[in-house]
Amino acid sequence: MINHGSYAVEPWAVRETTLDLDVLAQSESVFALSNGHVGWRGNLDEGEPHGLPGSYLNGVHEVHPLPYAEAGYGYPESGQTVINVTNGKVLRLLVDDEPFDLRYGRLTAHERVLDLRRGVLERTCEWTSPAGSTVRVRSTRLVSLTQRAVAAVAYEVEAVDARSRVVIQSELVANESLPGSDGDPRAAMALHSPLEQEDHFATGNRLRLVHRTRRSGLRVAVAADHAVSGPGQTTTTSESGTDLARLTVTSVLEPGQSLRVEKLVAHGWSATRSLPAMADQVDAALAAAAHDGWRGLLADQRAGLDDFWARADVEVGGDEEIQQAVRFALFHVLQAGARAERRAIPAKGLTGSGYDGHAFWDTEMFVLPLLTHTAPAAVAEALRWRYSTLDEARERAAQLGLAGAAFPWRTIAGPEGSAYWPAGTAAFHVNAGIADAVVRYVEATGDTGFEREAGVELLVETARLWRSLGHHDAHGVYHLDGVTGPDEYSAVADDNTYTNLMARQNLLSAADAVERHPDEAARLGVDEEESAAWRDAAAAMHVPYNAELGVHEQHSGFTRYQRWDFEGTRSDQYPLLLNFPYFDLYRKQVIKQADLVLALYTCDGWFAERYDEEQIARNFAYYEPLTVRDSSLSACCQAVVAARTGHLDLAYDYTAEAALMDLRDLEHNTRDGLHIASLAGTWMALVAGFGGMRRDGERLRFAPRLPERLSRLAFHVQFRGRRLRVEIDADKTTYELLDGPPLDLRHHGDAVTVTTSEPAVRAVPPSARRPVPRQPRHRVPNQTS
Ligand code: BGC
Repeated sequence: MINHGSYAVEPWAVRETTLDLDVLAQSESVFALSNGHVGWRGNLDEGEPHGLPGSYLNGVHEVHPLPYAEAGYGYPESGQTVINVTNGKVLRLLVDDEPFDLRYGRLTAHERVLDLRRGVLERTCEWTSPAGSTVRVRSTRLVSLTQRAVAAVAYEVEAVDARSRVVIQSELVANESLPGSDGDPRAAMALHSPLEQEDHFATGNRLRLVHRTRRSGLRVAVAADHAVSGPGQTTTTSESGTDLARLTVTSVLEPGQSLRVEKLVAHGWSATRSLPAMADQVDAALAAAAHDGWRGLLADQRAGLDDFWARADVEVGGDEEIQQAVRFALFHVLQAGARAERRAIPAKGLTGSGYDGHAFWDTEMFVLPLLTHTAPAAVAEALRWRYSTLDEARERAAQLGLAGAAFPWRTIAGPEGSAYWPAGTAAFHVNAGIADAVVRYVEATGDTGFEREAGVELLVETARLWRSLGHHDAHGVYHLDGVTGPDEYSAVADDNTYTNLMARQNLLSAADAVERHPDEAARLGVDEEESAAWRDAAAAMHVPYNAELGVHEQHSGFTRYQRWDFEGTRSDQYPLLLNFPYFDLYRKQVIKQADLVLALYTCDGWFAERYDEEQIARNFAYYEPLTVRDSSLSACCQAVVAARTGHLDLAYDYTAEAALMDLRDLEHNTRDGLHIASLAGTWMALVAGFGGMRRDGERLRFAPRLPERLSRLAFHVQFRGRRLRVEIDADKTTYELLDGPPLDLRHHGDAVTVTTSEPAVRAVPPSARRPVPRQPRHRVPNQTS
């Protein structure tokens, strides 16, 4: 059973009504605000108590040596880690000489609300100091989706029953001290004092700090401006020093009177710009924010989100908790990618420092599918970021003795950041994921300009990688040996089916793209012989199959391995990676996360052309009892294939697990940041799972079916200049074209044309009934209460 959550269930908000310091770090991730460029964890305004202070600027990282007990050729020498930059959200409060600190005194009311429509975090509380003064504090915080450098806080304190002297200290703080790590390899390494001071400034209501990272040499500037309103005798002073700039506002409040500070904060960073240029940059961003003012920022935030929801909303009938969770998921995925603009979208977004702030294949295979159909401009930007790192990827390929480009398994700035190559560089499938995202984006938008400028080159260089990584055997069959697929409990294996099939798609897409863009092909030196070799490799790609069992193999020989002793594994021994050596995991049939099952989804067309439904169902049934879901990337993939094979209730349980991963902290590490891929996977489970949506070149296919526990599911999809709304009931589906030219699609295989004047309504056929596959002991999917 999934435990009851800490948040009230509401359709458009996440609300906390009591403050539990034990789960403070988790709530800081849940209440994080970001636009993909600036990220503020949901720390309390006054800075303390905190779980993990966090202010991030996408791309700002420090480098550190990667120590190896036994070094080897091609191991990356240095790692990158996200750093906590100058914190602009701190507003400390003193009430009659006592610090407003929720660990002391009495908190008689507390509420924090993440408003998914307004894009703000609101807080209200009432607190009585140990000496007996009572104040009411209200704050509203936003990270602007329209002004990418800007975040803002409106902070108000009111005296409740007696005259109070109050002091608000609005600060910019650099080099905050961070709690130490608990040794979980998925958490971040804490770098202490990563910022070197370069300049500080405080005049009137304006503050500015400029720092530089010690080794990576990135210049970080943060500035703040304030509008203060309070009773007549309110005074302000400002000061600045090495790691601190502060505006102090003092007032005496009669009962019912309040003091309000509106703080605008601008952020910037650069590897190349000078100190004066950076100071000017943040001052200009502040001027622009001040021009619109707090109210203008609020109004723009709302308008931007209204537009997003009109394109992206998902309505879930019959389960209020999943309804809330999917909107929470959409909101956070938008926050992670909206304004990332040629920077990576990390696995945790900008909500925490988990995985050192690195981006993985999560971006292209989980996050970008959602954004492709809801906020496509962000996808082009994310892929242009990959494109901007091509030179490093080419260098890495050359270092490995390969052609083309080898993109990193994990990175912030472009270079490979994985110190463990069996689950790092050997996971070459990330390259096919990037190619897949390019094709998906171009198919869904028709953005041929992007394809010409960046897409073709990404496809060509990744195809070159596959052509040099694999080989034709004596019978002409093409193999990719010694690679790691998505399942990290297998490594360096031959012919991983997911990798082979994704590489096959990559090779074919590259060959098609060079035909469409002969000029680009010529520029990149692709001749007919080269693209013919890609097609040959694709046509001859080996896909291992165990005829005795009648199932596809995760990789050659996988089904021959000994099964993991699931019966003898205790529930507290999961995740296995923290309790067993990789050596043992690698040589047994035990699966961390969907791998072959993911291929059944992402390479659906390949299977459908060659095999019947029974084969797909047999594959799924074989891998279910082996899959332990020690990665949050698994449940959503299993949901999609469970729905495809008619196991709708199982699909529902997996969907719930993906959806509630962070709201209920199912993996007990939400404190390190949100699981952005799992959040995006919630959308995938609903739209590709119950909606049965698949790509079909320049068309979309749907095969909708609802589990009994849902009465209705409606979602929006943007596709080639159109906005489509799909609404699924138990027995019918309505396709409604909200705008754009007529759209041809398929519903359970039948051709349907929808126009803006006439929705199409089609019956939902019943699904096949098959015995429900079992999961490993202790690994039955979480069920909502
Ligand atoms: C998963 C990877 C994933 C990474 C970051 C790991 O636990 O096995 O597939 O990319 O987490 O989310």
